[in-house]
Amino acid sequence: MAAACRTSPTPTNLSGPRGRSPSIPRFPTIRCASQPLRTPSKTLATADPVPAFLSVTAFAPATVANLGPGFDFLGCALDGVGDTVTVSVDPAISPGTLSISSISGSAASAAKLRRDPLWNCAGIAGIAAMRALGVRSVGLSLHLEKGLPLGSGLGSSAASAAAAAVAVDGLFGGRLSLGDLVLAGLESEKKVSGYHADNVAPSIMGGFVLIRSYDPLELLRLEFPTGQDLYFVLVSPEFEAPTKKMRAALPAEVKMKDHVHNCSQAAALAAAVVQGDVKLLGMAMSSDGIVEPRRAPLIPGMVAVKKAAIEAGAFGCTISGAGPTAVAVIDGEEKGKEIGDRMVEAFLRDGELKASATVARLDRIGARVISSSAF
Ligand code: HSE
Repeated sequence: MAAACRTSPTPTNLSGPRGRSPSIPRFPTIRCASQPLRTPSKTLATADPVPAFLSVTAFAPATVANLGPGFDFLGCALDGVGDTVTVSVDPAISPGTLSISSISGSAASAAKLRRDPLWNCAGIAGIAAMRALGVRSVGLSLHLEKGLPLGSGLGSSAASAAAAAVAVDGLFGGRLSLGDLVLAGLESEKKVSGYHADNVAPSIMGGFVLIRSYDPLELLRLEFPTGQDLYFVLVSPEFEAPTKKMRAALPAEVKMKDHVHNCSQAAALAAAVVQGDVKLLGMAMSSDGIVEPRRAPLIPGMVAVKKAAIEAGAFGCTISGAGPTAVAVIDGEEKGKEIGDRMVEAFLRDGELKASATVARLDRIGARVISSSAF
């Protein structure tokens, strides 16, 4: 674990290699209390570690940020969908540097991405992880497989960054703490959309993650009770809602009554997660009075989609991240198809937008190494 970061209560499986099993203790807090943000651990930064593998592949899941009133401080991971990154030791690459060899995946997403590592989320986070580890003697090549569409509100950039940071760390035997990995991912988020960890932290850690503080970075995992089901209906319209533009639409100041309302809803949301109360979770998620009212009118049909989801039986609905995806919460997969159909219809009827629906379960694991090759 990095010298300046610690986890409490001492969970052995949270700071070790990322190919771990998902048996996670309740309420671990990852603190990077004594180091400024984005500064790598001194101990590791001078290490120049030897690679443990020739190549490592890591997967990182999609995420839903904000969940209504949790703007910039709460997010959760989604099972099954995400990005995959492979990093390999490559003698053709200058020592201490990283090159992007190829990008594949959905044609639309992959074709839009740059291969310059300084302008690619996976590249930026991979380089940040190398810096945090103190890698100087080997060069790396990186392959990105985009599983997520760009600008969808499902944490596409964060998933690329998370997978890259975890793959680079895995290549050197899994030496970074979760806090270090999130800081590496944050370097990418800062460059592409804004300094917010509510996508990259849950993508790396899995489950629900609350960002209690940014400076110093303090992450609090909120454990949704095991044995209880939680599903999300995700409806993505054919519409672009760039995070930078959606952030620019937000008010610089809020009224005291809105502050009180949103704080109470966010607190209820956190309580609902740890109590496994899906009904309360949905109500709180639907009750953002600050961000959603400014953004929903910018996404054609969103107001009607939310209404349709709740009328069809969802416990709550809001914008996923900065949009344009709408996310509704349910407690059983079987209800998802009908609710998704109603939401798709509403996007078409009221927003004149074609949309597609998927149902995803809560991911409780986060980014992980999925394969490796020895020298
Ligand atoms: N909290 C960020 C926002 C998430 O809403 O702008 C972006 O995915």
